[in-house]
Amino acid sequence: MTAPHEPAASTDAIRLQLRSWPEVEAYLERCKGVIVPLGSTEQHGPTGAIGTDALTAEAVALEVGRRTGVLVTPAQAFGMAEHHLGFAGTVSLQPATLLAVLHDIVLSLARHGFERIYVINGHGGNIATAKAAFAQAYGTAADRSLAVAPQLRCKLANWFMAGPVMAEARSLYGEREGHHATPSEIALTLALEPSLQSKQRPLPEPAPAGPIHGPDDFRRRHPDGRMGSDPYLASAEHGERFLDLAATALAEDLLAFLAQER
Ligand code: NI
Repeated sequence: MTAPHEPAASTDAIRLQLRSWPEVEAYLERCKGVIVPLGSTEQHGPTGAIGTDALTAEAVALEVGRRTGVLVTPAQAFGMAEHHLGFAGTVSLQPATLLAVLHDIVLSLARHGFERIYVINGHGGNIATAKAAFAQAYGTAADRSLAVAPQLRCKLANWFMAGPVMAEARSLYGEREGHHATPSEIALTLALEPSLQSKQRPLPEPAPAGPIHGPDDFRRRHPDGRMGSDPYLASAEHGERFLDLAATALAEDLLAFLAQER
């Protein structure tokens, strides 16, 4: 595709929110890629922040953007968290709503000429819906005969599933990483928001991971919200390492995505 991807001078330089439209138009002359952080606003156990998935996705996205010079949109902080609605503070979009939101974000960006939409996701519950949204967006781009339709590509990158991140989590926490309110994601929030450290305390043995159905069933199986995890093992220092590992893996993946033939 286009031009070399140099690191940005600062994080501010790649935040779409801080750019003017002529700056975005000029950016599109040299790069057709953009990063969209996707999170969720949902319970993360009795000691984790409700914003964990949005805070982490945005932080990884901004670091990947800083390292590659690729623009980053504002975070989509509400995701598909229906099964967490049994816990106070959770705010969920229905799958169909999230699908429509992501579809509209992709179509808006495609209209301006963005050809590579790289969604950095912080929440497993968003995966199926995000992929469905991409399929829908390709169809709409073609139906509307957008100029970029033949070149339009969307990619979902789940930072917590990057190989080096999972390997580090396994080596630090073993089985106690669990599946929700994991020490790895909590560690990253501690690095980003030091005030969260005050919530950390030892917790009783967590309920094991099980099938996921509705909110009442989820709360019955997982009374304190955790799925097999021990977030007390998390530290801000670990979080710094997870941020670096995730940004390294995803920056490489993004550059390969941008370089892909049409
Ligand atoms: Ni999470």
